[in-house]
Amino acid sequence: MTLPPKPVARPDKVSLWRYLRLFRADILSAQPQRLYRAWMAEFRTPFFRSYLINDPRLVALVLKERPGDFPKSDRIGAGLRPLLGQSVFLTNGAVWERQRRIIDPAFEGGRLRDTFPAIWAAGQAAVARVGRLADGQPHDIEPETSHAAADVIFRTLFSIPIENAVATQVFAAFKAHQRSQPILNLAAFIPGPRWMPRFFSRQTRTTAAQIRRLIMGLTRDRLAAIADGTAPDDLATKIMTTADPQTGERFGVDEMADQVAIFFLAGHETSASALAWTLYLLATHPDWQDRAAAEAAGIVPEFGALSRLRVIRDIFREALRLYPPVPMMVRQTTRAEVLRGRDVSPGAQVVLSPWHLHRQERLWDNPDGFDPARWGTENGRTCMREAYIPFSAGPRVCTGAGFAMVEGVVLLALLLKSFRFVAVPDRVPVPVAHLTVRARDGIWLRVERR
Ligand code: HEM
Repeated sequence: MTLPPKPVARPDKVSLWRYLRLFRADILSAQPQRLYRAWMAEFRTPFFRSYLINDPRLVALVLKERPGDFPKSDRIGAGLRPLLGQSVFLTNGAVWERQRRIIDPAFEGGRLRDTFPAIWAAGQAAVARVGRLADGQPHDIEPETSHAAADVIFRTLFSIPIENAVATQVFAAFKAHQRSQPILNLAAFIPGPRWMPRFFSRQTRTTAAQIRRLIMGLTRDRLAAIADGTAPDDLATKIMTTADPQTGERFGVDEMADQVAIFFLAGHETSASALAWTLYLLATHPDWQDRAAAEAAGIVPEFGALSRLRVIRDIFREALRLYPPVPMMVRQTTRAEVLRGRDVSPGAQVVLSPWHLHRQERLWDNPDGFDPARWGTENGRTCMREAYIPFSAGPRVCTGAGFAMVEGVVLLALLLKSFRFVAVPDRVPVPVAHLTVRARDGIWLRVERR
């Protein structure tokens, strides 16, 4: 069995400038092979020190034990600010805590059950669209998964399908924005000195402003509908009517628009990437695809029945291990730390890499292989607890983790029930990290009706 594609690592020693050039092209192939075995690696540049930690104990320290001492880097936020403003993804400290108190209840288990019909409807719409690709020709599947994931967000958040005029415009504007400002680009990821100004192209500012205008419109309309009691019972209504239990405050239009932007961004690129890679892995592992399709054949539109789709869930988990949509996360130290015996000064960058941790050769059996059965083994279970962070961990864990697992399983089951996905031998996707882990030239598959 050939291994799923992995970026070619760079040589161990390269000059800083070569490193920066590689980094600009793609964060993953800028890293040396030894990182897959290292517990920690230090990167020194004239401007900053950065430490990539790949040891479960250090990851637990930063994410779970003392997250307050390792906030998000404000310089990462700089690249995202024009679009995301004060979104929960960027804030720290008391503002962030208050925002999570208002947002989290909307994503709790009970509410997930309420969003299920909208996710199911988006899945059916995806089946109708993908059916048009069953013509014997290879097609890039990423635009389809992206469309489906955007549809899920609009339906669950605002009760509108992607065909709605405003939703279509937001989706198009986001695509244009990402072309002009790949969000995890070099500037966003490698901090320059503090005095270095951040430039955004005019295009970036224009698309960000356009998206904000559209989202503000949706949010304002919703506030009015809530006021006259005509608002549908969806995620937007739930979040906008939730008062912070400590202060009694609710989100105003501006702050809610910031959150809508991040829900859309964090919730659609990521799921789209995960779904596309899962379909690719299934196309290259037809035995697993057959097992998943057999399970999907019995799917019924009931939230409670999802827990029976164990094979599909394990496959999706395995895809999130091999191709974690968020490949790296950055935090900064706020005081002197000692990490694995090394003195680390305040203000240093701490990089957590789901990409490397999920393939840490000293922890995982068959780290680069696709094996959904691993989750039933001792090694798989231990690693799931200690070395598996596709949604991060601790208090800053992805708000949408439970939501994304439901979405992934439902969309996969509906697609696999109707179609077989077949790999195209001369089109092996090359993983690259932009905002999320995508394939450099798309993920090309043939779609056949079952
Ligand atoms: C497969 C799908 C998804 C993956 C792999 C994923 C992964 C992540 C990761 C790794 C983080 C932490 C980032 C960091 O700390 O730097 C995060 C944060 C976040 N995600 Fe997700 N996500 C997914 C889907 C979603 C969905 C569907 C939503 C909402 C509808 C969502 C909303 C958020 C938000 C709001 C945050 C910020 C949380 C905070 O900082 O407190 N995500 N996600």
